[in-house]
Amino acid sequence: MVLFGGEAVADPAFAHLVHDLALLHGLGIRLVLVHGARPQIEARLRERGAALHYINGLRVTDDAALACVKEAAGTVRVEIEALLSMGLANSPMAGARIRVASGNYVTARPIGVRDGVDYCHTGIVRRIDAEAIRQRLGSGAIALIPPLGYSPTGEVFNLSASDLATSAAAALGADKLIMLVEGKGLTDGRAHPVPNLLPREVDELLQGRRKLPEDLRHALDGAVAACRAGVKRVHLLPRGMDGALLRELFTREGVGTLLSAEPYEETRTARIEDAGGVLKLLAPLEEKGVLVRRSRELLETEIDRFILVEREGMVIACAALYPYAAEAMGEIACLAVHPEYRNSGRGEALLQRVEAKARDQGIRRIFALSTQTSHWFLERGFRNAPIDALPMEKQELYNYRRNSKVFIKILD
Ligand SMILES: CC(C)(COP(=O)(O)OP(=O)(O)OC[C@H]1O[C@@H](n2cnc3c(N)ncnc32)[C@H](O)[C@@H]1OP(=O)(O)O)[C@@H](O)C(=O)NCCC(=O)NCCS
Repeated sequence: MVLFGGEAVADPAFAHLVHDLALLHGLGIRLVLVHGARPQIEARLRERGAALHYINGLRVTDDAALACVKEAAGTVRVEIEALLSMGLANSPMAGARIRVASGNYVTARPIGVRDGVDYCHTGIVRRIDAEAIRQRLGSGAIALIPPLGYSPTGEVFNLSASDLATSAAAALGADKLIMLVEGKGLTDGRAHPVPNLLPREVDELLQGRRKLPEDLRHALDGAVAACRAGVKRVHLLPRGMDGALLRELFTREGVGTLLSAEPYEETRTARIEDAGGVLKLLAPLEEKGVLVRRSRELLETEIDRFILVEREGMVIACAALYPYAAEAMGEIACLAVHPEYRNSGRGEALLQRVEAKARDQGIRRIFALSTQTSHWFLERGFRNAPIDALPMEKQELYNYRRNSKVFIKILD
């Protein structure tokens, strides 16, 4: 799925972009194009002495504006179709005929009245006819979706191309959504492109104080929504860069910003800089009395005993192993999984990691003290044991008021 604004179509270099799209099509990539038409709409409104009004960042499409939207969308569509029909002289694809299928794939409804403002014919996507688009793609065509939606009452709505692309990519389960943005794309403080971002990092960026052009904000918003709706990769590319599309797809480093939905998750030994994340995970459980309170200082000195699961930069699970060498025993402590990530086997996987670590250290038996999680341990090979089965040092520290139960597991 490739999204580009009406600016791209107005640019004399648009033919290059279409050429690259045609090449991708020729390689057998199933392409859906979503285009905007804002400059074309605005030009028509200006000719008629009117303007497109934006209130709270949303456009208001009155009757006059809607007429311009229809005209502009129609004209842009024809221009794209014409260029795609041109044939690719001097290329291995010379003579290849590209079929373009535009259509009524989008059902929309009015945004309605918000804060007293009637947005008239500005709409939002209600449904995408993914099946119809798939059929066209299956028959070898490029699907082209204009920024318009139709309602069952026969009305036409003006849609934001970026919102439309996000919804369509999600509905189709697209492998990739490529958003060609105006300007330089997303750059860091030193004007270098930001190569990779996770949805959570985009949230932080959007909430942060950094000033970003409104269009880029909107694109990032859409990119995150698409990722969260299951699109595996979303690329933001600077539209003006010649060959950006092919360079992004076919060079390893790429030229734009890639947002990938696949969350990066890793299980590893904790480091000192993880202390804050571990504390954050444990604090609510300490408050509830499920875990024994630990100070930051203590946690920092003992951090290398922890194994943790990091997902998108956040600590979502941890467990610690405290060895008692004299007795060849070890305690599994601070076992915790973030509530949103429970019941997916992470607790069990951490237990296995702790057991493996214990075996490496020559530990023969591991034990756990628990008040509310007895059955979890019992179901994983632990057995109830008396307090005097604990290592001496641990017995001396046993808190009778807490009255935890003791569970021991013999490691094979
Ligand atoms: C116990 C805990 C670590 C398990 O993590 P998890 O990743 O959800 O565990 P898993 O996915 O491997 O196992 C899930 C199974 O354990 C069960 N389970 C979860 N908490 C349990 C509890 N307190 N007692 C008994 N069984 C429990 C679930 O019902 C599920 O079983 P099911 O699939 O048969 O329904 C997690 O629930 C947690 O952080 N709890 C709060 C902290 C805690 O109690 N720590 C132990 C301190 S000694």
